[in-house]
Amino acid sequence: MAKAKSSYVCQDCGAIHSKWMGRCDACGAWNSLGEEAGAESAPKGLGSKRGKKINFVGLEGVEKDPPRRVANMPEFDRVVGGGLVPGSAVLVGGDPGIGKSTLLMQVTASLANGSKTVYISGEEAIAQLRLRARRLGLDKAPVSLAAATNVRDIIATLDTPNMVDVVVIDSIQTMYLDNLESAPGTVSQVRASAQELIRLAKRRGFALLLVGHVTKEGTIAGPRVLEHMVDTVLHFEGERSHQFRILRSVKNRFGPADEIGVFEMSDAGLVEVDNPSALFLGDRDGDVSGAAVFAGIEGTRPVLVEIQALVAPSALAAPRRAVIGWDSGRLAMVMAVLDTRCGLALGPLDVYLNVAGGLKISEPAADLAVAAALLSSETGEAIEGATVVFGEIGLSGEIRPVSRVDARLKEAAKLGFTRAIVPRNRSAKGASLSEHGIDVTEVAHLRELPDAILPKARTHKSLA
Ligand code: TYD
Ligand code: MG
Repeated sequence: MAKAKSSYVCQDCGAIHSKWMGRCDACGAWNSLGEEAGAESAPKGLGSKRGKKINFVGLEGVEKDPPRRVANMPEFDRVVGGGLVPGSAVLVGGDPGIGKSTLLMQVTASLANGSKTVYISGEEAIAQLRLRARRLGLDKAPVSLAAATNVRDIIATLDTPNMVDVVVIDSIQTMYLDNLESAPGTVSQVRASAQELIRLAKRRGFALLLVGHVTKEGTIAGPRVLEHMVDTVLHFEGERSHQFRILRSVKNRFGPADEIGVFEMSDAGLVEVDNPSALFLGDRDGDVSGAAVFAGIEGTRPVLVEIQALVAPSALAAPRRAVIGWDSGRLAMVMAVLDTRCGLALGPLDVYLNVAGGLKISEPAADLAVAAALLSSETGEAIEGATVVFGEIGLSGEIRPVSRVDARLKEAAKLGFTRAIVPRNRSAKGASLSEHGIDVTEVAHLRELPDAILPKARTHKSLA
């Protein structure tokens, strides 16, 4: 008997290779190839069989806006674009233990008033799910529960007209098709299972919610194609040691992307936070010196983070420079520009820089926020609480424009900030203007930064 042929499949892009390689030559990812039995490659050509002709239609037609299924959880409904669209597929990704199952259990239970909802878990047993429902006080909700992993069985059950309105699959990595040889969680299985489930959702018109695991790089495990296959990709993020969680739409065919919903994890599940700024600002210790809030963009997403700096007299011949979450070379550059162009000599001092929350920032747009934090720490004067700062600093001290100013300001406004220090870009004079309800101050040179953030510091010795 011939030995079953196995291939090496890139777990990032799904490309199939006949032998192992350190680097996938299709997408360039390192160390992403995994062995899978019976991975099938696409046929070489169409063959001689002729296909049917397809019909073309005009752009105009009578398509009604689909009626959305509203969960009556405003934070969730807003992120999905105003409710779940029948026949659509939503992928919810997030770190383990962040609360995906809890969120979806709450959403299904809430939707169950009025819609037929099904929750299928491949990770937990019925007893565990019931225990969680009881803890959340949702055990009376008319949700149909099942523990299953075989996609063929799931499809056989759900392939009936008007049987369900909303289906949750927790998680797509535990599902498998019995006609594929590879193990659950591999690219082939994840892709094929998702494809079958999404096709059924489109045919039967139910909203499909898929839970997806996240790799250590923060992307949804399995092929990137999974993100292309679904209509909406949501990320559920937050730090496990903190109470707050953010649900963020990364892609949405039925609503705006970059929308966020904020929740707080309590002992009775996730509680919606309708005033997120209070939550985030609550974490900050009022107006302390050395802290600046940076309005950044992470991937496609706007994120606000606090940058903390501490400048202290040094006992060492070579003063200490400690940086967490940012590039130390970039810090040296910002310090050199502050020194030569603004007369702020930090050379003989210890400098500590920390990006709060453990986030790592790579954007040059953080330069100005770092400079603001350093200035504030050195002068001992706090930046007024509700201010965000962003802008790239050039070597001559000029502040360069950055991308997506609007998205940054929108996020800042959403989170309750009222002032922004931004690069001079639109108005020639750098006048104060107001956008999204935010008081915007434009600066063209680093020299203008102290005046913009620290009105009192002008009298300070080092800024004379
Ligand atoms: P879970 O939804 O199981 O996470 P995921 O599906 O993303 O892996 O959430 C697990 C965590 O949430 C667990 O650490 C306990 C915590 N939790 C609460 O704090 N309160 C609650 O009411 C529930 C149900 C969970
Ligand atoms: Mg879970």
